[in-house]
Amino acid sequence: MPTHVAVIMDGNGRWAQQRGLPRHEGHRAGATAVRETVYGALEIGLRHLTLYALSTENWKRDADEIHAILDLLHSEVSADPFQDLDVRLRWHGGADRLPTDLVDLLRLRERTTRTRTALTLTMCINYGGRDEITRTAAALARSTARGQLDPDLISEKDFAQHLPHPDMPDVDLLWRTGNEQRTSNFLPWHATYAELYFTPNLWPDTDRRDLWQAVTEYSRRQRRHGATPHQPERASRADGDPRDG
Ligand code: IPE
Ligand code: IPE
Ligand code: MG
Repeated sequence: MPTHVAVIMDGNGRWAQQRGLPRHEGHRAGATAVRETVYGALEIGLRHLTLYALSTENWKRDADEIHAILDLLHSEVSADPFQDLDVRLRWHGGADRLPTDLVDLLRLRERTTRTRTALTLTMCINYGGRDEITRTAAALARSTARGQLDPDLISEKDFAQHLPHPDMPDVDLLWRTGNEQRTSNFLPWHATYAELYFTPNLWPDTDRRDLWQAVTEYSRRQRRHGATPHQPERASRADGDPRDG
């Protein structure tokens, strides 16, 4: 069972186009699929679900489409469909360019759901992986300028502690719908060893069974993290490391 599943919810526009509808109808149908997926995640006891809702590159789209997406995000977060469930909501992304009322609402939900523990649902809104890395580098630079860190000794752990969400675990399964095989600037730090899973279905056609299918596929994968297959845990020194003689 993965701890952290991250999803690139792609295909809303094509779903609408296939039905002769405007693209924003695809995004609206996509919001229903989000609810479905969250219910499915709770049912199987998933701890972390991270959803890519708006990228830093999506601002290249028509203003009408962007406004429709932002309005939809506002109304979904405002409707609070998971209020009676043990779901902690977090927002990952930059506040720049987002409407202040949406930012305020996201921060309010983060505060009010802070003590919930079953599922952490992270919505990536105005999120870009390079933006995240750049902001982390700036935070590291501030720490070194204050003399809190020695630049010659900066470790991966130091970097991870300066990420905008230092407690976000690595992604175990990175799933993208919509028949494209790319990661589109999503979670480059956390997904370095993620299992990749690409499916042809368009996001609005997705329901909880697709999440379960994704998790089943994950359970069949063999993860090595650079080690050789089936390498036993190296005996601890207390258990008698052979090098101790
Ligand atoms: C994903 O669906 C949602 C967002 C990027 C906001 P798309 O809108 O990219 O749908 P397609 O890829 O054009 O079908
Ligand atoms: C990735 O989808 C972003 C989101 C799902 C929010 P895109 O549709 O924007 O990605 P590209 O442009 O096909 O790479
Ligand atoms: Mg797309």
